[in-house]
Amino acid sequence: MNIVQEKLQTINNSALSELSLVSDSRSLEEIEIRYLGRKAELNDLLKSIKDLPVEERSTTGQMANVLRNELADKIEELRANLELKIDLSGLDVTAPGVIHEAGHLHLTTQAIREITEIFKRIGFYRMRYPEIDWDWYAFTALNFPLDHPARDDWETFFIDPEDTTNKLGRRVFTPHTSSGQVREMQARKPPIRMINISKTARRQLDISHTINFHQFEGMMIDKNITISHLKGVIEYYTKEFFGKDTITRIRPYDFRFTEPSFEVDIACRNCNGKGCRLCKEGWLELGGAGMIHPNVLKNGGLDPDIYSGFAFGFGVERNGIMKSGINIDDLRLLYQNDVRFLEQL
Ligand code: PHE
Repeated sequence: MNIVQEKLQTINNSALSELSLVSDSRSLEEIEIRYLGRKAELNDLLKSIKDLPVEERSTTGQMANVLRNELADKIEELRANLELKIDLSGLDVTAPGVIHEAGHLHLTTQAIREITEIFKRIGFYRMRYPEIDWDWYAFTALNFPLDHPARDDWETFFIDPEDTTNKLGRRVFTPHTSSGQVREMQARKPPIRMINISKTARRQLDISHTINFHQFEGMMIDKNITISHLKGVIEYYTKEFFGKDTITRIRPYDFRFTEPSFEVDIACRNCNGKGCRLCKEGWLELGGAGMIHPNVLKNGGLDPDIYSGFAFGFGVERNGIMKSGINIDDLRLLYQNDVRFLEQL
């Protein structure tokens, strides 16, 4: 054995004895660096092989390689074993698991989904039109005169009040889903059976209004559509949404974009329309409706002598909280995000 071989032997012995004592991956790593790392003694020995007599070089080189590979294998094996050793003390496999609380959809989302399904069953498809739209779609195309109070800054949020350069007018955060009526007429030819559910905004905040709310707008246009169709569809909806025994009425009203126009009420389910503490007058208002005004059909590119149609627009939140079993005396609670309140719905 030459001097290099002897040193290799010594390194091997001390590495093996250190490895036999190792019990954690950190000290294993230290050993690995010390014996096989860049600054390991082994490297110097390898370099010194070239100074040996020629006939000894190859056997010494081989011995060094074998030693290095064996050491590396041994370290890998130990590392794998150490990783397998997971501390199981303190684990009680019979302990009950942690039950995570499951959330649920917000009442508004629940209502939107249910309304969509109800109308789908009678062939109405769901649409969604811009929540920020031009004045023309929100007002002008719907027959609103320029001085109509709904165009007041105190009713509606205009985005760019000063800008008068666009021929469609100013941009507005849609105060009603009726802005989708003419967009839908422009999008396809009758028969039209649309339900447009979108976010809307008005300057009103009290127990029955939030500034942001949702509306759903039904619209049906074809040849020979009459008030009977309007009544039938609304009656179908109220019975599906509020229950089979719901009593519905329509009463005359005024909207610029429908003629005739109505408001739709359902009888209070507590007193059946007689009047009680909950409803005061016996009826609860759902929203507006009517037969689409000929001017609006024209603005949508339809000939009012050929086509007729109806439209209605109801508040999602308002309908949602009027469902029996839900008893909310302040609509604003829906958007205050108090989990103690929301989890009851
Ligand atoms: N857009 C009206 C509102 O927000 C409701 C409505 C829709 C009335 C469609 C008639 C027809 O009050």
